[in-house]
Amino acid sequence: MSKVSQRSAGSPQSSAPQGNDIYNIVLLVVDILVLIAKFWYTIAEAIVGLFRPPPLEEVRGKVVLITGTGHGMGKQMALQYGQLGATILCWDVNEQTNNQTVKEIQAKGGKAFGYVCNVTKREEIIELAQKVRKEHGFVSVVVNNAGIMPCHPLLEHTENEIRLMYDINVVSHYWIIQAFLPDMIERNEGSIVALSSCAGLFGLINLVPYCGTKFAVRGYMTALAEELRQKNPQNNIKLTTIFPYMIDTGLCKNPRYRFPSLFKLIAPDVAAASIIEAQRQGLEEASIPRHYVTIEKLGRLIPRKAMRLVNDFLDTGVDTDKQ
Ligand SMILES: NC(=O)c1ccc[n+]([C@@H]2O[C@H](COP(=O)([O-])OP(=O)(O)OC[C@H]3O[C@@H](n4cnc5c(N)ncnc54)[C@H](O)[C@@H]3O)[C@@H](O)[C@H]2O)c1
Ligand SMILES: *[C@@H]1O[C@H](CO)[C@@H](O)[C@H](O)[C@H]1NC(C)=O
Ligand SMILES: *[C@@H]1O[C@H](CO)[C@@H](O)[C@H](O)[C@H]1NC(C)=O
Repeated sequence: MSKVSQRSAGSPQSSAPQGNDIYNIVLLVVDILVLIAKFWYTIAEAIVGLFRPPPLEEVRGKVVLITGTGHGMGKQMALQYGQLGATILCWDVNEQTNNQTVKEIQAKGGKAFGYVCNVTKREEIIELAQKVRKEHGFVSVVVNNAGIMPCHPLLEHTENEIRLMYDINVVSHYWIIQAFLPDMIERNEGSIVALSSCAGLFGLINLVPYCGTKFAVRGYMTALAEELRQKNPQNNIKLTTIFPYMIDTGLCKNPRYRFPSLFKLIAPDVAAASIIEAQRQGLEEASIPRHYVTIEKLGRLIPRKAMRLVNDFLDTGVDTDKQ
């Protein structure tokens, strides 16, 4: 392509196309035809995929690392991966609740190991990563799940609160990925899962910095997928970004909805099963419920003003956690 454009910018005296030019034009036409054919083949494949979900990858005998396993979805994922026969590495800042998760997995005959880790501490992550790789070998699945959600108007957020939220919800993911991705690249296998949120799809009041962190997760995961693919066209490392709606873990303190039957809180174990399915299917993005991602895509096609009318009608969101 660059050769063709060079020609048009080049010497005006060679107005008649020469053999080389014709060759380049033919190449370009072939390129375009191949693009069109592959483009439509991929679309057809995606449509077929809608009716035939991808097969589930085996996790039995594999090592799965999850952050934030002391409570909520992290805990439920740990329990369920344990039931599937994986070895679970449980990372949480809360030693007591994390120990409890490990005990529950072991009581059901699963394999689990607990580690205390405040994911805001980069050195702690690097040290712990070396330790678990030595003790357990290749980590096949990494789930960046730990997160916090202070909920009030932007002007009421303190500096510490905002910085801590970014450190836990986003920055820690970079250190964890930098620690485990090199092994995955070497073997060209593995999965990285990141918890974004519906707050990473839509802008919500009382959650301005939180939405920032969850859009950030969506952004870096999309970019990392491109980086892996362009560095290795045969890349087989799967990246999965999860966009849960409100899950009944206590994280979301004051949910508000006009139509509770339409937007009911989802149980943490149901959400965990959905995340595990998405990881095992190798989905790039998965919302809980699944159709929310599609609604967001369609929503972008309509004018914002029109979308706001629908939002106001649905009157769904989270109220401040102060007072
Ligand atoms: N609950 C929801 O409605 C909802 C919706 C969308 C997205 N999410 C996201 O899903 C993830 C899990 O949410 P949840 O509701 O299960 O949370 P949760 O509050 O129930 O559990 C979070 C766990 O993370 C741990 N944790 C907190 N800070 C940590 C730190 N600095 N280092 C290590 N561990 C730490 C906590 O000790 C706790 O065990 C979060 O990233 C959250 O933002 C939750
Ligand atoms: C958690 O478990 C570890 C290892 O079994 C133990 O050393 C530690 O004291 C426990 N901590 C708490 C708070 O229960
Ligand atoms: C984790 O470390 C940060 C500082 O890096 C601190 O502000 C936060 O309180 C710690 N979290 C817990 C639960 O101890």
